[in-house]
Amino acid sequence: MTTETRKKTKTGPTAERTGEGNMAVTEIVMPRMGTPDVLTQRRRPLSSPSDDEAVVRVEAAGVSFAEVQMLRGRYFNQPKFPFVPGYDLVGRVTEVGADVTVIEPGQRVAALTETGAWSDHVVLPAGKLAPVPDELDPTAAVAVVTNGVTAWQMLHRVAEVKAGETVFVHGASGGVGTLLTRLARLADVRVIGTASAEKQDAVRELGAIPLEYRNDDVPARVRELALDGVDAVFDHVGGPGLTDSWRMLGSGGTLVSYGVAGTLDAKGHRLRPFVPIVARLLFWKLLPNGRDATFYYVDRWPKYFREDVTKLFDLLARGELDATIDEQFPLSRASEALEKLDSGKVTGKVVLVPDGE
Ligand SMILES: NC(=O)c1ccc[n+]([C@@H]2O[C@H](COP(=O)([O-])OP(=O)(O)OC[C@H]3O[C@@H](n4cnc5c(N)ncnc54)[C@H](OP(=O)(O)O)[C@@H]3O)[C@@H](O)[C@H]2O)c1
Repeated sequence: MTTETRKKTKTGPTAERTGEGNMAVTEIVMPRMGTPDVLTQRRRPLSSPSDDEAVVRVEAAGVSFAEVQMLRGRYFNQPKFPFVPGYDLVGRVTEVGADVTVIEPGQRVAALTETGAWSDHVVLPAGKLAPVPDELDPTAAVAVVTNGVTAWQMLHRVAEVKAGETVFVHGASGGVGTLLTRLARLADVRVIGTASAEKQDAVRELGAIPLEYRNDDVPARVRELALDGVDAVFDHVGGPGLTDSWRMLGSGGTLVSYGVAGTLDAKGHRLRPFVPIVARLLFWKLLPNGRDATFYYVDRWPKYFREDVTKLFDLLARGELDATIDEQFPLSRASEALEKLDSGKVTGKVVLVPDGE
């Protein structure tokens, strides 16, 4: 749409814009493959929202494993370099296009962006925004956007867990894993979860039975703890261990595969690790033995995003769910934040906040 045909936008009390191009955006750029120190910061004019878009001043943006993969060129939906990373955000609407009625300037919102959130302002389709209760801390709220919706949908829309069941969570200390564990415990589901040796206590505190994935004989320990097999397994590791995950299932159980973290440093095409996974999942799914196997990705049900993230915000607001925040970094230190996540020394979520907060 040209400037001549654009309708007027609506601004609220928090809007900083005084005219098109008058405001600059500060954003982080991933220019090429490499280590986190390749990230750069740039400024550019903020573009005006089109009629169905909104401008959001970012209050918190998540740092996720997807960016670790993108930096190695190994994310399944790899964006072309250079690009602005950032999978999810929480912020305040400062301006909306003329046709936007669902969201108002001044409102706090969340969005799943896949890329682009590591910025102080973003322009997004208003239909992608979900309202966030004002009383929530933006840092806690952003921790349940991608990771929370992933965990919620895998538990309640895919595996359809019920009170009294037992599930197995690989990486129960991670961003998704901590939320899978907390949400399962909230639903009165027993959790057996793996973590490295130094994170065993953190996993126990979440209410799970911790196992150490490097030294324990995990399948044998799970057989001892769940004699009839578990009701669901959540596997983000992939690789040959996926067969162990399948074998842990009891009758009627569901294997949910949702990542290939174990092949992060593999050579060859980035989609290659998915081929044997998808083939095995399909084969297992077709076996007439009452068990199910499926691959989950967070964009599988865009129509449920608003509904599911709203449930998670409600749980946070009522104090029934906590988000585990490992550390928050100012936007200008995004490379340190990504380096920390990549180091494996993280328990929970790493978050970027505007400089000076
Ligand atoms: N499909 C989707 O839509 C979707 C959405 C979100 C995330 N994901 C995927 O989910 C995965 C986790 O993301 P995240 O943000 O939670 O990452 P994260 O915070 O870095 O957590 C990774 C977790 O994996 C554990 N881990 C590492 N190697 C392991 C192994 N060999 N066996 C078992 N656990 C292992 C780590 O445990 P220690 O730190 O204790 O070693 C840590 O708890 C990534 O692969 C990501 O791509 C997928």
